[in-house]
Amino acid sequence: MKIKISTKPIYYSSLIVLLLLGLTIHTTIVLPQRDHLTPQIIKGKMVWEEHNCIGCHTLLGEGAYFAPELSNVYERRGGSQGGIYFIKAWLKAMPTNIPGRRQMPQFNLTEDELNALIAFLKWTSEINTFSWPPSEKG
Ligand code: HEC
Repeated sequence: MKIKISTKPIYYSSLIVLLLLGLTIHTTIVLPQRDHLTPQIIKGKMVWEEHNCIGCHTLLGEGAYFAPELSNVYERRGGSQGGIYFIKAWLKAMPTNIPGRRQMPQFNLTEDELNALIAFLKWTSEINTFSWPPSEKG
């Protein structure tokens, strides 16, 4: 008597194993590209939290609507040609005391804290948000 063995289960399980292997290789390649947080960016996020910037501003559309969106401010103000200098000068110049204009406090940040904050805002400006929020300044 001849025993018939179906090759279908072997075929399908090999296919699944190949698929899982492919996905594992893809993840191994793609994951390190996403992980580019530096200690300075992490410090910048701490400065952001300690001074409650989100209490007035939005970041990626979330936060308070008193002041402009800041996730894109680095790019919006000229990136490496302008954003760096603008953010630093802005934080040092506050408050402007211009009558009738909303004011921002003076935080007396150190050079180190300012650079970290800028590194954090540069990092947020590089996140692909697919043009979110719809209005540039939030
Ligand atoms: C009490 C509210 C308040 C807090 C807290 C605050 N800001 Fe502001 N910020 C403002 C206001 C209001 C403006 C807009 C002022 C204007 O247009 O004259 C502003 C503007 C800015 C701008 C310029 C935005 C642009 O579109 O050009 C930057 C950069 C900025 N803030 C950074 C920060 C950072 C960083 C923090 C935290 C360390 C912070 N702000 C905390 C109120 C605040």
